[in-house]
Amino acid sequence: MKLFNQGGLAGSAISYAGLIEKIEILRSTLRWASRLERAEIEKLLKQATTLRDEVMQLSHKERFVQAAVAETAPADLAPRERRQALLERSFIFEGTFGDNPKLLEALEIAEKAAPTDLPVLIDGESGTGKELMAKVIHANGSRTDKPYISVNCGAIPENLIESELFGHKKGAFTGASADRRGKFESAHTGTIFLDEIGELPLTGQVKLLRVLESHEIQRVGSDETISVDTRIVAATNRDLRRLSDEGRFREDLFYRLSVIHVTLPPLRERRDEIGLLVAYFGDEAAGALKRRPVKLTPRLRDFLMNYAYPGNIRELRNLMYRISCLAGDTADLEHLPQDLRPKSAAPAMAAGGSPPGGADASTAASLSEAKRAASDEAERAFLERGLLEVGGTVAELARRFDMNRSHLQMLLKKHGIHSKDFRNQGTAQGGKAR
Ligand SMILES: Nc1ncnc2c1ncn2[C@@H]1O[C@H](COP(=O)(O)OP(=O)(O)O)[C@@H](O)[C@H]1O
Ligand SMILES: [Mg+2]
Repeated sequence: MKLFNQGGLAGSAISYAGLIEKIEILRSTLRWASRLERAEIEKLLKQATTLRDEVMQLSHKERFVQAAVAETAPADLAPRERRQALLERSFIFEGTFGDNPKLLEALEIAEKAAPTDLPVLIDGESGTGKELMAKVIHANGSRTDKPYISVNCGAIPENLIESELFGHKKGAFTGASADRRGKFESAHTGTIFLDEIGELPLTGQVKLLRVLESHEIQRVGSDETISVDTRIVAATNRDLRRLSDEGRFREDLFYRLSVIHVTLPPLRERRDEIGLLVAYFGDEAAGALKRRPVKLTPRLRDFLMNYAYPGNIRELRNLMYRISCLAGDTADLEHLPQDLRPKSAAPAMAAGGSPPGGADASTAASLSEAKRAASDEAERAFLERGLLEVGGTVAELARRFDMNRSHLQMLLKKHGIHSKDFRNQGTAQGGKAR
């Protein structure tokens, strides 16, 4: 199933995507021009006229293909039937999904986008499944046997981004002791997943834009151009439109990356899927921990069904792994992280002993000691909870709470918390390290 004529991206055939690209190039030229000569105005006018003619000529065939694709999932089908239809079309999704219309819509878009080479932008809060979705798009496309290369743009120091993405020539900078190929070259014929694209510095954005335009790269320090055929899937938990209004993300790059735009809803907007996910991760954790799936007391189930999950699916998954690891046959509220436990669970907790580290406000000898102990407890719970939500990435935690990273590191050290323990929790079953 093809959504658009893929040749359109190269600019030869007329396609919806090709036209959007041309319009963006035109807009970009106008946006970045400080002044224009009459001759240039004439040239741009001519381009605009051609574009208008091309829009009018969009072939019957193209319209037919688009209409046929639209028919595969008529929006007026009931969610249950839409879900069933997705499954019957042998759509590969390595996770679980129910009847939530918002998620179904995202999956249907991903399904249509997968067999094309169009760039896809996935947005959504941290832990909503963006990376999983990128893999799904790759797995359902024609490049599935080819490389899938993931790059976290937020985790690479600014001065190394370019070399990381495009490679470098020996001697290009201090430390470049040999020629090295970048991620784009490694992803040739396959897919590159650019995670946290909103963190890419402006200089990197310009370079990326050039790759999207020319399908060519240059290693740092080299004049040679290398053709790359790489499908781009990008993800962000930031509002790129707002970043571009603020001048921090190039608008033309945003439009080029988001030819197909998929938004993953936060878990609080698909609460009807929580029960399904609890069961799914209960089984998954049991498999990973080689144990029987944990049973849940009614009050714990009730809690899990009603909790807000600021860390979305990642948080739910981590909770299920934690519960499955700590509980015997049956899990109860006491197996939740301390700061999540509802007040009513307090007596059960007291029997469980004081928190690690020994600080316990209830047995303190003086008021000031009690205050300090309570404050330490709160601090520790806050850090653990935060790390769970962000999958153990200290930089992300620092950004989320607008805290200084080295101060955070110091607090973690004080409490003997290792951020990588939380990373492992999020990837306990063969997932990619984040
Ligand atoms: N629908 C789903 N079914 C099963 N697991 C899911 C689903 N969505 C997300 N996950 C899991 O939740 C965790 C977080 O997902 P991830 O793709 O890393 O989120 P993001 O990139 O948005 O932060 C991963 O372990 C992922 O496999
Ligand atoms: Mg992610």
